[in-house]
Amino acid sequence: QTGLVPFAPALANTAATDSAITYLDGERGILRYRGYSIEDLAERASFVETAYLLINGELPTPEEYDAFSWALSEHSLLHEDMKRFYDGYPMTAHPMAILSAMVNSLSTFYPEAQDALNPEERERTIVRLLSKLRTIAAFAYKKLHGQPFIYPQNHLSYCGNLLHMMFALPTEEYEVDDELVQVLNQLLILHADHEQNCSTHTVRTVGSAQTNLFASISAGINALWGVRHGGANQAVVEMLEQIHADGGDVQKYINLAKDKHSSFRLMGFGHRVYKNYDPRARIIKDAAYRVFDKLGIHDPLLEIALKLEEAALSDSYFTERKLYPNVDFYSGLIYRAMGIPTNFFTVMFALGRLPGWIAHWKEQIEDPSMRITRPRQLYTGPEGRTFRPLAERG
Ligand code: SDX
Repeated sequence: QTGLVPFAPALANTAATDSAITYLDGERGILRYRGYSIEDLAERASFVETAYLLINGELPTPEEYDAFSWALSEHSLLHEDMKRFYDGYPMTAHPMAILSAMVNSLSTFYPEAQDALNPEERERTIVRLLSKLRTIAAFAYKKLHGQPFIYPQNHLSYCGNLLHMMFALPTEEYEVDDELVQVLNQLLILHADHEQNCSTHTVRTVGSAQTNLFASISAGINALWGVRHGGANQAVVEMLEQIHADGGDVQKYINLAKDKHSSFRLMGFGHRVYKNYDPRARIIKDAAYRVFDKLGIHDPLLEIALKLEEAALSDSYFTERKLYPNVDFYSGLIYRAMGIPTNFFTVMFALGRLPGWIAHWKEQIEDPSMRITRPRQLYTGPEGRTFRPLAERG
């Protein structure tokens, strides 16, 4: 036979990578960015501070924060030629497809990003992407809603600028709501990094070939789009809408999720690493109450989500498999309350995860011992076979 390596199955799923960026303890539900707890950062930091921390390893001083914020404002515009790319997308396009294509296209306007080993070019490319992804996302929102693009405003904060570019109209004043900006800061912080998840591992794999940042992040965006990964926040709300339309019978869907003959899974439940309540889900659930209270919204989907969580966490199928709500279970409800359409929820996830992806790409490219990712495999195909010409087959 092929002489299978005895310990191979254990390697099948684990590509051990060391990193100094994020610490995750799935059993105890602990998440720390560069040693700071997610609870502290979500409650007391801004997204820009958190992005700086993830990328540079330290929280910024006031001077560093001002310089970083100024640079983000400086690079918020897209090249005017890039606006025309949007003309070609159909109104039915999924914004994640636009996001990955536009991010990849940045490398055509900034070819110097290819010089990934040059620290100055690297820093400029990082700030360009951190700033422009907001504009790319907001312009995608405007395109898909048939509205004119709204340019970034340098006097606005990172999150305030995003909301303004998405929701302002040339025909009326748009006042950025500070409370919604605060909630959006918190949501982006909670999504900012998560160790070696599928999309981050994708960014590291593509970046290990010394691929430029734009192309590496474009690959990460595509990985995040998957419904088992970042696409879950969209799938959660679609699931809750289906349960609502079906009379709110949560037990019917709990039973469906347990049925091995059904492919249905409870979206927003379960996690490869967390075998406890996802600490991010706990914070987001509290934020959901605040947003609904602030906006005076009574969303029946929140009631259904709470009932679904209660039913699942009192069912041994879920508790035995340690299936708890994850980051995606409540986040979509907040985005929905903020007026963000369902198919943009994963775009918001990508905006949050961007500094984490960048930090991992940078950590790897700065490592002189970096080697291209090249996992081995367990060959399970046929042994050497004799070739027969076409005429002799059949
Ligand atoms: C994210 O990795 C990260 O860090 C990801 C993330 C990040 O920040 O980057 O945290 C973001 O992707 C969160 C996850 C979002 N996805 C979903 O909510 C989709 C629904 N969840 C599942 O598809 C699943 O739980 C995964 C993909 C999240 C995890 O899958 P695993 O670890 O591969 O688990 P598994 O498929 O091996 O399932 C183990 C058991 C199976 O049952 P048995 O074979 O033991 O009988 O649990 C069952 C599964 O059928 N199961 C579920 C379930 N998730 C797992 N059953 C019902 N509903 C579910 N959601």
